[in-house]
Amino acid sequence: MTEKVNKTRRRLIIATSVLGGTGLALASVPFIASWRPSARARALGSPVEVDFSKLKPGQMLTVEWRGQPVWVISRTPEMLATLDKIADILVDPNSNVESQQPAYTKNLYRSIRPEIMVVIGICTHLGCVPTEHFPVGEASGINADWPGGYFCHCHGSKFDLAGRVFKNVPAPTNLVVPPHIFLSETRVLVGVDTDLKGQAPTA
Ligand code: FES
Repeated sequence: MTEKVNKTRRRLIIATSVLGGTGLALASVPFIASWRPSARARALGSPVEVDFSKLKPGQMLTVEWRGQPVWVISRTPEMLATLDKIADILVDPNSNVESQQPAYTKNLYRSIRPEIMVVIGICTHLGCVPTEHFPVGEASGINADWPGGYFCHCHGSKFDLAGRVFKNVPAPTNLVVPPHIFLSETRVLVGVDTDLKGQAPTA
């Protein structure tokens, strides 16, 4: 009887060990998979070079970086002239929330070069993509006081032509300016903020 009990106990120990080994192997697979990101995942995280040579003043183009729309906007002198006149209707006119832009774009234009803005086109409320309404006033389709900017149709958030959020809308913060650096007069690299010598741009 004792010998039978011992045999049963040994079988249980062996079975438990095998199951334990299987569990370890299964648990290891996701770890290895996440440790080695796929080529697509690596590509999605890579910097994106944008040639904006065909962009005319007052136009914008959209590229994808890390699965997000990034806008490159060519702002006219008239568009830039509005930016220092509307601080009283903005939540963070001086870009004091550090998470929303690199230090080198903490200026009135929120850009390295005033005429070229680079910004992530995702509303900081719940992630919809706002639409551009560049004309001022009634011609914008928003209202007579509209200074030009972006309107999020999901819940009504408004952003100016530097991506700064208006007061009294659901979005809490300015649109995010991604790290970027200009490679030439008409090319910008989105996703890095140092040049080949490791220098950060100066705004
Ligand atoms: S997601 Fe833009 S206002 Fe809500």
